[in-house]
Amino acid sequence: MRVAVRYYSRGGNVKKLAEAIAKALGVEALTTDSPLTEDVDILFLGSSVYAYGVDDHVKDFVSNINVKVGKVVNVSTAALVKSTYKQVGKLLAEKNIPQAKEEFYCRGSFGPMHKGRPNENDLAAAADFAKKIVG
Ligand SMILES: Cc1cc2nc3c(=O)[nH]c(=O)nc-3n(C[C@H](O)[C@H](O)[C@H](O)COP(=O)(O)O)c2cc1C
Repeated sequence: MRVAVRYYSRGGNVKKLAEAIAKALGVEALTTDSPLTEDVDILFLGSSVYAYGVDDHVKDFVSNINVKVGKVVNVSTAALVKSTYKQVGKLLAEKNIPQAKEEFYCRGSFGPMHKGRPNENDLAAAADFAKKIVG
């Protein structure tokens, strides 16, 4: 099973999730500035919500994918909304890249909101989630 982890994180919240997932799977978590260089079965893609949208880095990363990706597993944090699943799904659909039904989401700290999130429990849950997905 070829697995890759990519993320874009302004404040470090979804970076923590991506790194917990990568550690659990024995791979490296790289930012979306590192394009995929070989085909993968599963791509864990981490993103967060900024002013109701995902960052252009995530859009550019997806639109520049030119290898075969079996499926993308969405990983995200946000303070208010429920994940970036739909927004990332739209980007993937434009490239005919399948998006897994399963996703990992947790609250991310934002100013006084959700202090300390993702916390140790979130990171452990992300690691467990990733191991189940990869099987
Ligand atoms: C400029 C900015 C805009 C944000 N806008 C939203 C928003 O519209 N909806 C929301 O749920 N969270 C919003 N947030 C909160 C972030 O999604 C949350 O803090 C997230 O965990 C940040 O992830 P990161 O640390 O990986 O960048 C915003 C955060 C920032 C910094």
